[in-house]
Amino acid sequence: MAQTNWTTANIPDLSGKNILITGANSGLGFHAAMALSGKGANIIMAVRNLDKGNEAAALIKTRYPNAKLDVMPLDLSDLDSIKHFSEAFHAKYNSLDVLMNNAGVMAIPKRETTRQGFEMQFGTNHLGHFALTGLLLDLIKKTPGSRITTQSSGLHKAIDTIRFDDINWTRSYTKWKAYAQSKLANLLFTYELDRQLKAHHIDAIATASHPGFAETNLQRHSGFLVAYLANKLLAQTAEMGSLPILRAATENNLKGSEYFGPTKMSEMRGYPELVQSNNASHDMEAAKNLWDISEKLTGIHYEF
Ligand SMILES: NC(=O)c1ccc[n+]([C@@H]2O[C@H](COP(=O)([O-])OP(=O)(O)OC[C@H]3O[C@@H](n4cnc5c(N)ncnc54)[C@H](OP(=O)(O)O)[C@@H]3O)[C@@H](O)[C@H]2O)c1
Repeated sequence: MAQTNWTTANIPDLSGKNILITGANSGLGFHAAMALSGKGANIIMAVRNLDKGNEAAALIKTRYPNAKLDVMPLDLSDLDSIKHFSEAFHAKYNSLDVLMNNAGVMAIPKRETTRQGFEMQFGTNHLGHFALTGLLLDLIKKTPGSRITTQSSGLHKAIDTIRFDDINWTRSYTKWKAYAQSKLANLLFTYELDRQLKAHHIDAIATASHPGFAETNLQRHSGFLVAYLANKLLAQTAEMGSLPILRAATENNLKGSEYFGPTKMSEMRGYPELVQSNNASHDMEAAKNLWDISEKLTGIHYEF
């Protein structure tokens, strides 16, 4: 049953739980790490820049001196880095209670590619997290009641299908459509992953969230209007924007495939509630195609 005005006060005690957050040094990931530290979890902060990660961890410690924080390097735009991260993670941890696939890039002005040549937004936001989740699946499987929570965006609605005939935007590139595709992919992935976990009777679920419009570093490529004016006038705080992913990651008794986001001002602001993603995100054939392509492109095959 949806509660109103869900806040971090609703998060249960998480002592002893291992929670991995991608992009934990900035914006929503940082505020999620802060909130979960207050609940006693062991937070693994997966960051592409260790200096920024250590600074963020130090800031969390000023509020929670006993926070259990492990800053580890991870570049989601490089499959080799993801594999190294997975090896290092396996060497340290025997369980993974919550994987928060949060990191992302948005609206990169000119088409850029990841180390392996994928369009940067699709490659980082979707393929990077697809590979990471697949490589950590063994730990997820052996952790009772585990959860994978992926950060999407209301902007997934700006596109009504995955561009299967040119998934890496080589023929033409539109920065917002490429971002929208990556965020639609986050949802198709979440729902298909949840179906697969259930089909294989694994005690884990996949959930998703979107933050509405929150003031973070994400808008740095969005131009003056969005990056400055809209951020100042319309956006909610990053702390508020972190609530949907926190709810999707921690609320007890979820069944899987829930999608949380704010409900006020066309879902741009407010407390997290269950919200609806577009029809395209529920297209099971598209989800299967995307899964097959993602396995092929990343070379990571899921062993359920
Ligand atoms: N803010 C919003 O209004 C909004 C709306 C809808 C969806 N979202 C989603 O929310 C998520 C978090 O974004 P945010 O708003 O918190 O933005 P942010 O402040 O820019 O944080 C993004 C995080 O992702 C990290 N990151 C980017 N590329 C990476 C890579 N290749 N490997 C590893 N980490 C990488 C960034 O690291 P660096 O600090 O090193 O750059 C940063 O820690 C994203 O998935 C975004 O799409 C945000």
